[in-house]
Amino acid sequence: MRIGVLTGGGDCPGLNAVIRAVVRKGVEVYGHDFVGFRNGWKGPIEGHTRPLGLDQVEDILTRGGTILGSSRTNPYKVDGGVEAIRRTLAEQQVDALIAIGGEDTLGVAKRLTDDGIGVVGVPKTIDNDLGATDYTFGFDTAVHIATESIDRLRTTAESHHRALVVEVMGRHAGWIALHSGLAGGANVILVPEKKFSVDKVVEWVQRRFEREYAPIIVVAEGAMPEDGAEVLVSGEKDAFGHVRLGGIGTWLADEIAARTGKESRAVVLGHTQRGGTPTAYDRVLATRFGLHAVDAVNDGDFGVMVALRGTDIVRVKLSEATAELKTVPTERYAEAEVFFG
Ligand code: F6P
Repeated sequence: MRIGVLTGGGDCPGLNAVIRAVVRKGVEVYGHDFVGFRNGWKGPIEGHTRPLGLDQVEDILTRGGTILGSSRTNPYKVDGGVEAIRRTLAEQQVDALIAIGGEDTLGVAKRLTDDGIGVVGVPKTIDNDLGATDYTFGFDTAVHIATESIDRLRTTAESHHRALVVEVMGRHAGWIALHSGLAGGANVILVPEKKFSVDKVVEWVQRRFEREYAPIIVVAEGAMPEDGAEVLVSGEKDAFGHVRLGGIGTWLADEIAARTGKESRAVVLGHTQRGGTPTAYDRVLATRFGLHAVDAVNDGDFGVMVALRGTDIVRVKLSEATAELKTVPTERYAEAEVFFG
């Protein structure tokens, strides 16, 4: 079999570990042949490939990013996009695809499967918001980076008696904020799933100052005040209809300073959360996903995504995986609320 591999959407630590595992098992155990498609769905649309054999996956396990490149291209928004993919697959004599991505990339994978192209999906996103899998790789690394940043910000905040607002990624799901906030002992954690009262945040911050501590507020980029909306960098939408979020941290730090009379600073962690080498946990999860994805292709089991359930890797229908986002449940948020203020 000849198998095409691509990575789509925002990059994330562990993508190269998946690619390595797919190729190592595919070549050494099954005797399959691979081709890499560059930059997400753009690669098969434009016929942009790169060789993908044992030599190309040597030494990439620990490397962040993706050796294949990524983009947020939606073939269903490109004129003749799906036909172009069919043409490229025929020219390249590719029998099946492994698509490594989040809800958007896997949403396309599902539609292509319905249109008769054999695709197996692998879930990736630092946001951990894909349904049908307990965890996505990349999330653990992002939480690790955010937690380390919170630890560092705490000491400087305490020296200067300032409130420090830490803005982390998470458009619609506050998993990174929840986990890094809990791990870092944040005084307030704000997530997109629950609108927040600025008065209440100010009250918690005041209470923290009264106890001679410097408050740390962790806020997901998609969090919203009760009487407000998401704060955007720009209204421009990508091919999947997403706007660019960002700015809630600075807005909140200004509000806190104005209402408490204390100095406040905002730190936006941004893409540092997605860069660099994956944690050991993510390397293992990504490797296991890769091994099981190539098994699914070898079995001809298309239209599925590999998923983590407990400690097992299972196959779930792509339709199930992309049906709805996995957001932070009320009871998980309530656990964190115990520590607010
Ligand atoms: O989807 C992952 C993610 O990192 C989101 O948390 C974030 O909103 C978005 O990607 C940022 O995208 P970009 O890389 O296009 O700025």
